[in-house]
Amino acid sequence: MPSAGFGVYVHWPFCASKCPYCDFNSHVRAGGIDEARFVAAYHQELRHWARLTPGRRVGSIFFGGGTPSLLSPGAVGSLLDAIAALWGLDPEVEITLEANPSSVEAGRFAGYRAAGVNRVSLGVQSLSDRELRALGRLHTAAEAIAAIEVTRNTFPRFSFDLIYARPQQTLAAWRTELSHALKLAGQHLSLYQLTIEAGTPFAALNALGKLVIPDEERAAQLYETTQEATDRAGLPAYEISNHAAPGEECRHNLLYWRYGEYAGIGAGAHGRRLASDGRRATSTELHPERWLAAVEAAGHALLTDTLLTPAEEADEALLMGLRLSEGLNLADLERLAGARPSGAALERLVRRGLIERDAARIRVTPAGRPILNAIVVELARALEPIEAAAAQARAAT
Ligand SMILES: C[S@@+](CC[C@H](N)C(=O)[O-])C[C@H]1O[C@@H](n2cnc3c(N)ncnc32)[C@H](O)[C@@H]1O
Ligand code: SF4
Repeated sequence: MPSAGFGVYVHWPFCASKCPYCDFNSHVRAGGIDEARFVAAYHQELRHWARLTPGRRVGSIFFGGGTPSLLSPGAVGSLLDAIAALWGLDPEVEITLEANPSSVEAGRFAGYRAAGVNRVSLGVQSLSDRELRALGRLHTAAEAIAAIEVTRNTFPRFSFDLIYARPQQTLAAWRTELSHALKLAGQHLSLYQLTIEAGTPFAALNALGKLVIPDEERAAQLYETTQEATDRAGLPAYEISNHAAPGEECRHNLLYWRYGEYAGIGAGAHGRRLASDGRRATSTELHPERWLAAVEAAGHALLTDTLLTPAEEADEALLMGLRLSEGLNLADLERLAGARPSGAALERLVRRGLIERDAARIRVTPAGRPILNAIVVELARALEPIEAAAAQARAAT
């Protein structure tokens, strides 16, 4: 598959408190952390990655978490300077920072902008105080709205996240909240259905029947309502949960879904790189202090750096590409895996209304989106070597 570019993901694994639904690699340290020591280790990992990926130019940088808005603007600036010096930045580089909308963090935004951040993604989650409390968030709706305004006035591009399909959420309540959100939105919105993640307090309550989320049918209605409202507002979905005005998609996320290359810096970060022997998948020590010790000892905390087989690459490319409304280019998949889904499997899915195809691409239809994973499994099982696919196509004509 032709490279969709190169980006750098920087994971900051700390939060002010742990939300009861979240299973991201995020940790609370009541005694505080030694920022300078962690940041020095990030610099070491950046240098390691620059040795693994020489000659690339950085198209996007994403500070994710955790809560990277707990980092000082000075630390963010020093990491951005290092990334620019190690690889060089594309003139159009997108630099996103995820931020929580508490007033303390919003006060730092001017510093992030001065450091070079040009896009912020705010974790608003809900515009109702009652719902924010139920989600265990530390901010209020008024603080979220104030943070959106500061963000809008400070950064050229911004987005915010909401979580819907929450316990007891009615269709009418979500319509009202979403229409309020669309009035506050800029050119991008992320709208996630609440997922019950194993091992979280929400999962324990769910197992006891004390926290009930919408059933499949109501979740599908909520999803449809979301698509209708965002389409009307000019922010259609370009991915399952991500909406943007045309051209305002998050370039860093597109890099993942178009199966590009990215360095993964920080505890638990994943990376993908094209090496001389093929595409490699990397993973990093999850635990922040063990990550720090590993980097200080060895210059990096990579746990695995594994060459992917063509079949694994094809599975990943299918899984990523079919999340996108633009879909997946079949010729790219062939170059990557030497295989394409059989004509019979494609036809079956088209007949069931789950995918659509033209000469170049396949896309999942709105009806197929709720069962995307099942579609990916079906297509992955139906992959066949190009020669067989070509013979079948010839036989069918
Ligand atoms: C890992 S958080 C990082 C951003 C920031 N710490 C925050 O929470 O605002 C990224 C986003 O994932 C979403 N998220 C996390 N856990 C989720 C869950 N169980 N279900 C749905 N969305 C979730 C939230 O919308 C959140 O904004
Ligand atoms: S603030 Fe964000 S990353 Fe931290 S626990 Fe909450 S959802 Fe997870």
